[in-house]
Amino acid sequence: VWANVKAGPPDAILGITEKFKADTDPKKINLGVGAYRDGNGKPYVLPSVSKAEEILFKEKLDKEYLPITGLASFDKLATELAYGEDSAPIKENRLAVTQSLSGTGALRIGMEFIAEHYPNKSIYLPTPTWGNHNAIAKRAGLTAEKYRYFDPATVGLNFEALKEDIKAAPEGSVILLHACAHNPTGVDPTQEQWKELSQIFKEKKHFPFFDMAYQGFASGDPVRDAFAVRYFVEQGHQILLCQSFAKNLGLYGERVGTLSLVTASPEEKARVDSQIKLLVRPAYSNPPVHGARLVSTILSKPELKEQWLGEVKEMADRIIALREKLYNKLVELKTPGEWGHVKSQIGMFSFTGLKPEQVDQLAEKYHIYLTRDGRISMAGLNDNNIEYFAESVSKVVKG
Ligand code: LMR
Repeated sequence: VWANVKAGPPDAILGITEKFKADTDPKKINLGVGAYRDGNGKPYVLPSVSKAEEILFKEKLDKEYLPITGLASFDKLATELAYGEDSAPIKENRLAVTQSLSGTGALRIGMEFIAEHYPNKSIYLPTPTWGNHNAIAKRAGLTAEKYRYFDPATVGLNFEALKEDIKAAPEGSVILLHACAHNPTGVDPTQEQWKELSQIFKEKKHFPFFDMAYQGFASGDPVRDAFAVRYFVEQGHQILLCQSFAKNLGLYGERVGTLSLVTASPEEKARVDSQIKLLVRPAYSNPPVHGARLVSTILSKPELKEQWLGEVKEMADRIIALREKLYNKLVELKTPGEWGHVKSQIGMFSFTGLKPEQVDQLAEKYHIYLTRDGRISMAGLNDNNIEYFAESVSKVVKG
C-alpha cells in the first residue's frame, strides 16, 4: 500500500538526538536539542516538580477528561505568570486561554486560528528562527514570510534591518516575535528596542504573535523575561501568546503550555473561546492532565513557587557560568575568530557561527552533535566535557 511513500528527511533538531543515540563512542556529546542537563549531563527533574508529584500522588485524583480548553486553575495561573496578575485583559475577563500541547501545540492551534479568522493568511518569521515554525505555519495553512533579525557580521541583532522589514510588511501583517531568549541565536532586542517595535506595530496595525518558550531562561527571572509580552499588552496590542513549560519547569515530555489571545471584551472572549474549542476538539479532543496539575500545584503554593523560582535561576546561572568557561577555553586555545558572542548571547543556546561543514566534522571526527546552523544547547556542556568540546571546536576551526 505504501510502496510510493518517499522517505522524508530527519528532523533538523530531534534527528540529531537519534544520531547521537546511535553513536557508541564514550566521548559523545549531544548539544542538539534544547533540553536542560545537570552538571553530570543528566536530564534534570526539578525538585519543586518532584514535590508537586508527591502532593498529587497523595491526593489520589481521578483520570477523567479535562475540558477541551484544559484545567481552569492551570490556565489562570499560567497566564498570570506570563501577563502578570494585574494584567488588564485578565482582570477584565477578556483573555481567551486554552491549555496546549506545550509550545508547539499552542503555535499550531494559534496559527490555525489566524488562518481561519484573520484576514491576512501569512505570518512573518525572523531569519533565522526555530526550525519548526516554518513547518507549523505551512501545516496550519499560512504562508511563511521572512523578516531580517540576525547579523552574522556582528553576531548580534540587526535592528535596523528588522525595523525596515517590519515597516515594509503590508499593514496588518501577523509577525511572530520570540518573547525572550531567541531560538536559535540567543540574541534579543533590548527593552528600549521592544518599545520602538511596539510603536511600529501600532503605526502599521501589525498583529503581534508571541512565542515564549523560555520564560526565566534568559535572565533567570520570569518577570523580567516577560517584559516584551507585558509591555505590548500595556500598550493596548491585542497579542496572541504561545507559552511553554517544557524548559522552565523541565516538563518536556508532559507537553504542557497555553495559547492565549487578548480580546476586546468578555463577550468577544467567549466567541474566541468557542472557536478555539472547534480547533482543539478534532485535533486531540482535550489536553493531558498531569503536567497541568503539576504546574498548577507549584504556582498555587507560595513556598513551592518560591522554590521553583530559585531553581529556574540556578539553571540559568549554570548556563551563564558555562558561557564564561567556554569562552575562556576557546580563547586560551587561540581559536581563530572572535568568541565574545558565546558570553553575550542569552538563554539556552549559543549560535556559534560554526559552518555546516564544521558541524559535520564535529560529528564525524569528534562525536559531538549540534544542529547544522551551528547552534549549541549550552546545558549539554559540563565540567567533564567542556574541555574536550572546546579543543574539538578549536581543531575544526583551525582546519
Ligand atoms: C529546540 O529548539 O531544541 C527545542 O525547542 C526542542 C524542539 O522541540 O525542537
